[in-house]
Amino acid sequence: MLSNKLRTLVLVLGAALVDIKGVGAAPASQGSWKSALSQVFETTDRLPLPNLGNLVAHDPNIVQHDDHYYLFKGGHHVPIFKADNLSGPWAQIGTVLDDNSIIDVGNRSRPWAPTTIFKNGTFYCYYTLSTHGSRNSAIGVATTTKLDGTPWKDHGAVIRTGEGKGSDVFPFTQTNAIDASFITDQETGKSYLNYGSFWHNIWQIPLADDLLSIEEPQHPDAVQLTFMPDQKVKPEEGSWMSYHDGYYYTWFSRGQCCKFGEKEGGFPSRGQEYNIHVGRSRNVRGPFVDKDGDSLVDGGGTAVYASNHGLVYAPGGLGVLAGNDSTPDILYYHYLNTSIGFKDGDARLGWNVLKYEDGWPEVTSVSAGSIFSLPSWLYLTTLMGFWLCIWS
Ligand SMILES: *[C@@H]1O[C@H](CO)[C@@H](O)[C@H](O)[C@H]1NC(C)=O
Ligand SMILES: *[C@@H]1O[C@H](CO)[C@@H](O)[C@H](O)[C@H]1NC(C)=O
Ligand SMILES: *[C@@H]1O[C@H](CO)[C@@H](O)[C@H](O)[C@H]1NC(C)=O
Ligand SMILES: *[C@@H]1O[C@H](CO)[C@@H](O)[C@H](O)[C@H]1NC(C)=O
Ligand SMILES: *[C@@H]1O[C@H](CO)[C@@H](O)[C@H](O)[C@H]1NC(C)=O
Repeated sequence: MLSNKLRTLVLVLGAALVDIKGVGAAPASQGSWKSALSQVFETTDRLPLPNLGNLVAHDPNIVQHDDHYYLFKGGHHVPIFKADNLSGPWAQIGTVLDDNSIIDVGNRSRPWAPTTIFKNGTFYCYYTLSTHGSRNSAIGVATTTKLDGTPWKDHGAVIRTGEGKGSDVFPFTQTNAIDASFITDQETGKSYLNYGSFWHNIWQIPLADDLLSIEEPQHPDAVQLTFMPDQKVKPEEGSWMSYHDGYYYTWFSRGQCCKFGEKEGGFPSRGQEYNIHVGRSRNVRGPFVDKDGDSLVDGGGTAVYASNHGLVYAPGGLGVLAGNDSTPDILYYHYLNTSIGFKDGDARLGWNVLKYEDGWPEVTSVSAGSIFSLPSWLYLTTLMGFWLCIWS
């Protein structure tokens, strides 16, 4: 315990020092400004660079349908983009909402962090309305049957926190209804909504069969997925849940997401900016643990992707595109390019092919061109395995 406290003290002091160096040194010229920033940028080359998505996007969400990629992002009425390649070119094909959201929370014309899923012939887009630093938030949902042109129908709020219908029911009394993600139990077919940030971090609620509302709204069977009990401020949000080979993975972003460099200095100490964590469980409802066996509700989480090369900064707002027998899973996210800028509107889409080591996902440097040759690699490996078997 004591040594832990000491370590924390040293870390805090160290961080303060970096802060003083990085932030206190007022930029006299572009050069010294950059060298001051290099103190807060992670320069590791242990992580691969992103494959460029070639699209400006914050909290991107990608759906693969009919051999095309569709990307949804926070923005005016939730813009939708389409491409044949994850690296673009992307063309905007419309928006989810054709008017302001029918939910009266935050800026009704500019939802955040959409997550779209396809089920039984219908697309469901879960979107967030909120204001930075406020728990008065809502997750709404809109549906359509076709992505190209057919209008969406806005069904309004699925859950609310802070104010409004249902916000007086636990856990909505303590949590923040932002950043929806979605998962279906492989065995039961039951679907769940994951959501949350800061206030009590990330939670999971069973959805009703219509996927437009939650089950038992007066007594939802909620479970907590992540929590940082020892931290006064609890920067975990933007959850995603994926399934791979017998495990459910809870992904989330930890650290400062936005508003870098706005005030003088204005950068958190190194490592406190957004980065991507994961934990896993055999059960969709958890409990989720990280690689060290630490529970995600006890501050656990294995870092999968973070700032690197002094170039990629604060990656987060992620999703995972599920592969199949011949295509790999892909992790996509937004990040800031330190040679471009730090405004929230500078964030762009990046992505990496995932591989699994002992059931733990790792990012690879596999590029766009080679994804399509993976099947032949698999084929060759299988063939080699076959000959080795015969041989021995
Ligand atoms: C609300 O969002 C729109 C973009 O959809 C933006 O133009 C407008 O300035 C925002 N309003 C406020 C009050 O922030
Ligand atoms: C799937 O959609 C069809 C047509 O809308 C509907 O009749 C059916 O009940 C739905 N099935 C499920 C499992 O929701
Ligand atoms: C795997 O996914 C790719 C891309 O969506 C698709 O073209 C291919 O048909 C799928 N293969 C199998 C075996 O499902
Ligand atoms: C960062 O931006 C520079 C300059 O536009 C560009 O050459 C480089 O490819 C970008 N890298 C990443 C990872 O975005
Ligand atoms: C996708 O785009 C990348 C980068 O432009 C390119 O290298 C790759 O060959 C493209 N893949 C396909 C299938 O067109």
